[in-house]
Amino acid sequence: MRCYSSNSTPLILVLCLVCSPILSLAASQGSSCVINRNCNSGLHCETCMANRNIKPRCTRIQPSDPKSKGTDLTFNRYTWLTTHNSFARLGQIRSKTGTPNVAPRNQQDTITQQLNNGVRGLMLDMYDFLNDIWLCHSYGGNCYNYTAFVPALGVLKEINVFLEANPSEVITIFIEDYVTSPMGLPKVFNESGLIKYWFPVSRMPKNGGDWPLLSDMIKLNQRLLVFTSKSWKENKEGIAYEWTYVVENQYGKGGMNAGSCPNRAESAPMSTTSRSLVLVNYFPDIPDFATACKHNSAPLLDMLNTCHNLSANRWANFIAVDFYKRSDGGGAAEATDVANAHLICGCNKLSLCKDNSTFGVCEAQAKPSPPTSTSTGILTGIHRSVAGECWAPPRSCTAICLLLWKRIHCYSF
Ligand SMILES: *[C@@H]1O[C@H](CO)[C@@H](O)[C@H](O)[C@H]1NC(C)=O
Ligand SMILES: *[C@@H]1O[C@H](CO)[C@@H](O)[C@H](O)[C@H]1NC(C)=O
Ligand SMILES: *[C@@H]1O[C@H](CO)[C@@H](O)[C@H](O)[C@H]1NC(C)=O
Ligand SMILES: *[C@@H]1O[C@H](CO)[C@@H](O)[C@H](O)[C@H]1NC(C)=O
Repeated sequence: MRCYSSNSTPLILVLCLVCSPILSLAASQGSSCVINRNCNSGLHCETCMANRNIKPRCTRIQPSDPKSKGTDLTFNRYTWLTTHNSFARLGQIRSKTGTPNVAPRNQQDTITQQLNNGVRGLMLDMYDFLNDIWLCHSYGGNCYNYTAFVPALGVLKEINVFLEANPSEVITIFIEDYVTSPMGLPKVFNESGLIKYWFPVSRMPKNGGDWPLLSDMIKLNQRLLVFTSKSWKENKEGIAYEWTYVVENQYGKGGMNAGSCPNRAESAPMSTTSRSLVLVNYFPDIPDFATACKHNSAPLLDMLNTCHNLSANRWANFIAVDFYKRSDGGGAAEATDVANAHLICGCNKLSLCKDNSTFGVCEAQAKPSPPTSTSTGILTGIHRSVAGECWAPPRSCTAICLLLWKRIHCYSF
């Protein structure tokens, strides 16, 4: 933000900075901003140095809700934003054991905040630890005090609260499963209350068939899909073995080469149509906050297209990233919308899908989005008040700013 003043004093400049976040009107994607509150809902304010995007801008953190176009398609006709190691959060310095946690971090906010932002796929690493099941980001199949995050129960309860409060939401959990204690997982899911939302393995299509309708899953309250990475658990514990139902590309560096989309070792090749769900990973081996904004932007969209072409022309149902909120514009939220548009109506933008549309029928043009203010803070705000437009800044700031406005000449960017 630039503030110009005829009597440019540090005081005025400081006030510009102090007032602007409070007074600014919400702005749309790509607008300059100072703090998150400057941006419309579903956006936040950030820079992407990795793309030389030094000026903070409003970028997207929330995908559009595909249910807004109807729920009468099969589950495999929707795409869900998925967080990799959803529980490994920046800012949680200590493990719940009390020991400082040295494990890498992949996300910025809590599971509840992720769900509130439209994340519907969660990748959770679960271990036997301290006579319980823990979320842990570890190695060698063992959890340690310094790699443990929290007991799984707390996070599963958060998910339960969300599903209870949002009766038409469906969540998918992918467990990287190191639990060997008998019935360890069923017990903890039962204790969390989540068992009542369990989507039964018996209803999952085994040979590439269509999934039940989303509306059906909602109606029957079968709104939690759980997949394990351990094949023996399907028969013994009733938890679906992920790669009987899902093809998944290579995670880490091996999955980030433009133009290729190899399957991860456990998965059938991406083009295998006897698995009806497609999961696309796009993140490096070691989570990197600085470059995540770059990865989650154009290269992610590119990989989405590549994987579509190499997955028997199927669009991803799950898009898994690190730091899902980071991007230089539309990010993983936009990638999710793009895949949803292709799956739901065969158009390349979700805004082009008609409600309950027949496949292949696109709106002629994107519906104009409701008018959003592109105002850029106090500067515009002051001009507006001068022009006599209705504009009501919070009282705490009015006094200072009105006192000064005649002396400040301000310009928007
Ligand atoms: C789609 O159709 C259903 C009933 O068939 C209706 O209830 C719903 O409002 C329609 N529109 C959307 C966006 O779901
Ligand atoms: C790990 O943490 C638990 C719980 O706080 C504690 O009882 C145990 O002694 C710790 N183990 C090590 C090796 O520090
Ligand atoms: C599930 O939890 C309920 C109460 O929360 C308990 O009564 C029941 O025994 C549990 N079942 C299993 C299989 O753990
Ligand atoms: C995917 O295939 C389409 C149609 O053949 C082609 O136009 C497009 O360039 C391909 N995209 C990628 C990223 O390979």
